Parts: sequence; C-alpha cells; structure tokens
Amino acid sequence: MSDPVVRPAEDAPALPIVGAPLDRVDGVPKVTGRARYAAEIEVPGAVHAVLVTSTIARGRVRQMDVAAVERMPGVLAVLTHENAPRLPGYERAAQWPASRIPTVLQNDAVHYNGQPIGVVVAEQLEQALEGARQLRVSYAVETPQLDFASAHEAPAETTHPFGVEPKETARGDVEAGLEQAVARVDATFVTPLQTHNPMEPHATIAVWEGDELTLYDSTQGIFNVRGAVARMFGIPPEHVRVISRYTGGGFGSKGGAWSSVFLAAMAARQVGRPVKLVLTRQQMFGPVGGRPRTVQRLTLGAKRDGTLTAIRHLVTANTSALEDWLEPSAIQTPMLYACPNVETDHTLVRMNIGSPTFMRAPGEATGTFALESAMDELAYALRLDPLELRLRNHADRDQLRDLPFSSKSLRECYAVAAERFGWAGRPLDPGSLREGYWDIGFGMATATYPARRMPGSALARMLPDGRAEVRAGSQEIGTGTYTVMTQIAADVLGLDPARVHFYLGDTTLPQNGVSAGSMTAASAGTAVHAAACALRTALAAMATADSRSPLYGVAEESLRAGDGHLFVESDPSRSDSYAAIVARNGGAPVEAKADARPGEESKRWSSHAFGAVFVEVRVDRDLGTIRVPRVVGAYAGGRILNAKTARSQLVGGIVWGVGMALMEETLVDPHSGRYVNADLAEYHVPTNADIGAIDVTFVEEHDPHVNPIGVKGLGEIGITGVTAAIANAVWHATRRRMRELPIRMR
Ligand code: MOS
Repeated sequence: MSDPVVRPAEDAPALPIVGAPLDRVDGVPKVTGRARYAAEIEVPGAVHAVLVTSTIARGRVRQMDVAAVERMPGVLAVLTHENAPRLPGYERAAQWPASRIPTVLQNDAVHYNGQPIGVVVAEQLEQALEGARQLRVSYAVETPQLDFASAHEAPAETTHPFGVEPKETARGDVEAGLEQAVARVDATFVTPLQTHNPMEPHATIAVWEGDELTLYDSTQGIFNVRGAVARMFGIPPEHVRVISRYTGGGFGSKGGAWSSVFLAAMAARQVGRPVKLVLTRQQMFGPVGGRPRTVQRLTLGAKRDGTLTAIRHLVTANTSALEDWLEPSAIQTPMLYACPNVETDHTLVRMNIGSPTFMRAPGEATGTFALESAMDELAYALRLDPLELRLRNHADRDQLRDLPFSSKSLRECYAVAAERFGWAGRPLDPGSLREGYWDIGFGMATATYPARRMPGSALARMLPDGRAEVRAGSQEIGTGTYTVMTQIAADVLGLDPARVHFYLGDTTLPQNGVSAGSMTAASAGTAVHAAACALRTALAAMATADSRSPLYGVAEESLRAGDGHLFVESDPSRSDSYAAIVARNGGAPVEAKADARPGEESKRWSSHAFGAVFVEVRVDRDLGTIRVPRVVGAYAGGRILNAKTARSQLVGGIVWGVGMALMEETLVDPHSGRYVNADLAEYHVPTNADIGAIDVTFVEEHDPHVNPIGVKGLGEIGITGVTAAIANAVWHATRRRMRELPIRMR
C-alpha cells in the first residue's frame, strides 16, 4: 500500500515545532485522571505497608511489642530490626559512589526523630495504619545533637562529602585583595532547614515474581532506583524493573531510592504479596531529604570603581548522623564575577535530623542568597547602582575553570529585565518610597545554574501508518518531558507532534539518567534527537535506494522532512511518505537507536544558564507583612524547546524563590528532634494569593557548543537569585538588611 497523497512542502508548519508553545501532550490525561501515578496503579492482590517511625532522635530501639500488633485484624506482618531479613548490600552501601545510607531495619540504631524503624503490612490501609499506631516501642535514649551552633564547634570529620564538587577552591590572595579594597562587606547569612513538598508523596508498589522485582515508584530516576535496589538485595539489575510514567514533583527529593523503596520491596517479599507503601505528608519530613541549614560568611572587597578585589565564601551546613551530604552553597561564587582573589570552602556539621539532599538548585538557591545579598551591600557601600556593580564585575571568562563560556547572555538578561521592570527611574536611596502604610523597595540579583548533561539513549520507530514512536527511559516529573521530547522527534521527522508518541518511565526502555540538575532536556533530548535523525536517515536510505520511490537516486543531503514526508529540498514535488517507504519495505516498523554521551565540549567550554531577576516589595510599616507584587526575570538558557513549558519552569522557580524568601522553614524541636511543622498547614509555601505579577522573558541564545541541540536546561535557575532580590528590595524599602531566611521584620 502506498500513500498517493503528495503534499507540497509549503504545507509544513510555518512555526518550527521546536520552540513552539505546544500544550502538554500529557495535559489531557493529567486533568482527566487517566495519568496514573505510582500509588494509583492497580495491582491485583496488593496489600498495604505503613512505616513505623522513631519518636526519639538518637539512641537504640530496645523493644517493640510486635506480637500484639500481629494479632490485630488484617495484619500480615510486622517488620522490625529484629526480624527483618538481612539485605546483602546494606553494609557496603557506604562504599558505593554517591550512595545514600538508608535505614532499612538492619540494626537498632536511631539517628533522627521520624526515622523508619518498622513496617506494618496489612490487607487494608486502615489496618496497617492502626497497627503502626498501636506498636509499642521502648528505647535506650541518648542525647541528640540538635543545636547547629554547638555542632558547629565540632565540625564533622569528612573526607568525601557527597553533593559538591569541588569542596574548596582558591585563587590569588584574598587577604591581599582585601588590603587593596576601599570598600568591604563582611556578613553572615543564614538559610533554614527546608523540606520538599511535591504534591505527590513518595510512593512505591513492589511486586515480586520469583526473584524478579517490579517497582512502581514515584521517582526522578528509574535507573537510579533499579541500581540501588539491585545492589541492596544482591540481585542483577536486569531482575529489577522500575516503572514511573508520571511523578508528581520531586525537586531533588526523589532522585534516588530512600529507605521506603527498599522497605516496600522487603515487605512484599516477606508477605508474598504485592505491597503498596505511600508516605504520609508527615513522613516526608526526615526520611526523604530536605535542604540543610546553611550559615554562610561572605567577605567582599572592591576598589572605588566597584571592581572586586577579593571574595571569600565560607559555608557551614548540617548533615545527618547517617551520611556526609553537603549543600554546595559556594558553588557559583568562583565563577560568577571576575575577581583575581577568591576563596571558597564548605564545612559540615553533624546533627540528629534526617539526611539532607538535593533540593531545587542545591547550592545556588542558598548560595545566591548570600552572594547576591552581599553584592547589594557592597553596591550601597560604594553608592553604586547594584546593577552597575554587577556589570563592572561581569566575568567574560570562567575564571574557576579557566575556560571560555560556550555562550553567555547575562548582559542582555540584565538589560532586558531592567527595562521591563523600570529599574532606571527609581530613587537610589533606601527608605524613600512610601504609599500609605507600605514601604516600597526594589531589588535585583543575578541568576545562574550550570548546563550539564548525562549519557542518554533513545529508540525511534516509524510505524506503517506514518506515525512515529520514540522511547527513552527518562522521567516526567512535571517539567514537560513528554512534550519537549515529542517536539524534538516531530521536528526532526517532519511530523505533526500529534503523530509522535513518546514513551518514558520504564527501565525496559533505553537507559537515561536521573531527571535532576536541569539536565533532562539536554541529556534525553540529545538522545531523542539523535535517534530521530538516525531513523530519518534509515528511511531516506530506503527511499533513495528504491527504484519505486520518487526519491530514487537522490542524495540524502538534498532531502528535507515535512508533513510525514521526505522531499527534495529544491523540488518539493518529488516526495515520498513515511507510510509508503515502510509499506514498500515489507510493512514492518523501521527502527533506529542512538546513544548520546557528553563529548569533549564540557572540557573546552564552561556552560551555564544565566538570568537577571528584579523584584518590587511592599513592607507594611506597622505589621511587618511583606508582599511581592512584581517579579521580572530575563533568562538565557540556550535553545528554548517549548515556550510554554519553559516559562512554566521559570514561574515555578520564582514562586519557590518567593516562598524561600518569606515563608519556608522546617522547624525541629530542639529537645526531641521532632519535626514541628510537618504538614502543609504549617509548613508554608506560597498560594496564588501570595504571588503577584511574574514576568518572564527569554533572551534568545544560540549556543553551538553546549550540546548538539543547544539546550541549557531551565529547571533550577528560576529559584536562584530570587531570595536575594527580595532581601535587597526589603533593604531598599526599609533600610533593614535581612540576612536570614525566611525574612521576618521582627
Ligand atoms: Mo534537582 S534538586 O537536581 O532534582
């Protein structure tokens, strides 16, 4: 069967598919409930597991009254450190590179309040919940370390902290630079513990068939989970299948397998039934990471003209008693501004709280608060416009890595955002704008996040009806992965995006990395692009070698793709449809696979997304209420794959920045170590009513070096700089310098 319709190329969409503000391809399934999240997968015979968590912050579990709970209706098993099976990989977990240390009932130690210490499995969820509630536990209590300041006096011995690279940097001579300075800032900034609150809590359904395990998991990294679970249970990775077609937000907290994933698998094996384990909102405070507290000392020196002579950024952050996870708050500091003398260092202090982890822009979110606030202080000390100070210290080259930038459009971002905000006309002096009881202020900051990528693979397939399927084992964490991957493939193949079906979220698909570090678009995107190109090449080769094809004998380079066809660029009337090509070649789908690995580019170029963010704040003089009626951001992130989902990433990041500046704070009781505000009623994140106008502009940027598709990634840059811009605006409104988050006009 051949397709008789020959469409001229002029019918191809005028707007390129990549970049277009395409609606999310998974939008309808999501709003109609057809999109199934991990806990919603219907697995016949599944029973329910509920975590039992410690009520002390440090010590040992002495006794658990398991027998009483085992007798309760519907209870199938009560797992504790006494009866839980030994997991072959547990003892070695600490030695695996970048491995987390879960608490999986392998010993009686308690390291924080809320730590998993048991699992109750029952036929019904309510029975498991009641069993967990009734389980009597006695402890040998030790005094927990819950005070950051005293922990600070005895920093943790750490050799290979996980989370930052490098831990310290130095160039030039900071002391000499400070001597030369006519203006200095030396200030300490504090950011609090914070907890990820994705709408969907962590959830796992574990199904064993013999020694093969299937996990339906809410995760940012299906292959991370597969690897960790296989190692922990001592089984080959091929025996573990992880499925995650939709994840309801992760923000770093779902980057790998936490204790609950292993415990779900353990429980399922124990009871011989599929087991579903969903964390309660309260259980997400502690066992699945969070942002640590940071105390950051920033020292800046500058000449009269604002030129920086010295930067020192010393960070202290907490980790847990379990592992050495480091929030790399100084990560941007040696790169962001030109300066000959720069020193950064990080110190960890150990506390009896849950292990910290990646949380949207780990490092930059906290670090830009300190650095960009200190730059503002320096600007006022020099009586310079804060934007002008940044322009005078613009880094034309990455001095940390001594490399050129693959592209950098920060100056354009400053200009565009300043113009849209109306920065130029404002009074420079702080405390000079008032309206009724409102003190009004304006502030700005630089936004930055690195552009990196991981290896990825993809498979593209042309079906007999001219539709394409593309497969890559990535994840959809709400960012728009389904949509942008569909666009990339549709663009290469010249297909209507509605005729491309993209599959992700299954470890039976080609391997891809974790959806984190703003890397998915660049990583999986490059693989999808390569697979689609390979498929087009394969189809072109079939057509041009086939005497029955109108394209017979044409050189492949002269072909273009559009509207489901390959056609001769100089003579679009010579065209062949994909359906016809497939039909003439036996009618079986045509496939192509591609692997994409980071190349030499990352050694030759420094690649970062940059942006500028400007805010207006209003501070109620009597009540101390802070409002943020306006945020204007301009960002350069290489090629924008979808104007709508890209904007959505930036808006989301900015909203979180407002929350981080004004609301978010995880409170831990200093005596018991209990998480005090472990729910969405008391852990405050912004609601619509808290958010004013957000204006996001993308500065067009063509980066030929960063990766084959010119994409830098936008998942994290949006939160960076926002907290400092708000604190700087509060200073401008009130003459009060707020160096601790969340900002409170106490
Ligand atoms: Mo993100 S904090 O790299 O998931």
